[in-house]
Amino acid sequence: MQKILVARSIFPDVIDRLKQYFDVDWNQGDALPADELKRRIADKDGALTAGEMIDAGVLAAAPRLRVVSNMAVGYNNFDMAAFNAANVLGTNTPDVLNESTADFGWALMMAAARRIAESEHWLRAGRWQKWSYDGFLGSDLYGSTLGVIGMGRIGQALARRAKGFNMRVIYHNRSRVEPQIEAELNAEYVSKQDLLRRADHVVLVLPYTKENHHTIGAAELALMKPSATLTNIARGGIVDDAALAEALREKRIASAGLDVFEGEPNLNPALLGVPNVVLTPHIASATEATRRAMADLAADNLIAALGEGPRAGQPPNPINPDVIGRARS
Ligand code: GLV
Repeated sequence: MQKILVARSIFPDVIDRLKQYFDVDWNQGDALPADELKRRIADKDGALTAGEMIDAGVLAAAPRLRVVSNMAVGYNNFDMAAFNAANVLGTNTPDVLNESTADFGWALMMAAARRIAESEHWLRAGRWQKWSYDGFLGSDLYGSTLGVIGMGRIGQALARRAKGFNMRVIYHNRSRVEPQIEAELNAEYVSKQDLLRRADHVVLVLPYTKENHHTIGAAELALMKPSATLTNIARGGIVDDAALAEALREKRIASAGLDVFEGEPNLNPALLGVPNVVLTPHIASATEATRRAMADLAADNLIAALGEGPRAGQPPNPINPDVIGRARS
């Protein structure tokens, strides 16, 4: 039987399914420290990860490894140049999380705009004495301008919801999307600078790459309206969290909603000190149905890539399909 490492705690019935095909080493504890990951992956044919860093060093430590299946759509934890050099396949879990993640983007954006977390903390602290005409004034979503940076599948799902709020949609992306998608979403392609100047609510839905590091830093925050909100459901590192905390503290923008952070699960302490930000622990895809779909798809990818099951040899979501069938190097 081929051997696999499941690096994270996951639904037990998914483990049962994997056990039908593989000898499974399952880490049910905390995230594996890098040296333990290297030790446990060393004799494996495949691995299932959820954000663990897999680089040239890990691949070199695991000469039999042929596939790593990430239970996430983002795979910035994979060094794809190293995967390609070693002929190791990477897979991810796109599409099944689009709608849940778009829903959550709206939840965070609305919470930031209408100061829901901030006012709730204040209420819980026993500070509510009387209703006040100017208590927790926020900004409207209905009829405002939504700025989406990153118009991929999740960005489009997010923008589609703007119709019900009668919002103008502007977007920025590496490249323009198809005219029929622009027409369906009633979305206008603009430069990043234009978007930041015009949007009332900016949402980040782009993948993390070296080029996208600090897409939003001090200079970009300075372009935004003082009444604007910023929501990040993409990846830590896309926003300069220190610069954002300062902009929020100085009220240079109104508020922010953040589900992802530089260095998570550790947060820049400055963010914890500002009230006008809603902070959630990377849960945008966390509904029962969606996390199950992601886990199932991650298992499907691993089973098929290791030549087992009904789709043997044809994993549904290869990131680097060119390496399929090539000998491990
Ligand atoms: C979650 O962040 C994902 O990339 O799926």
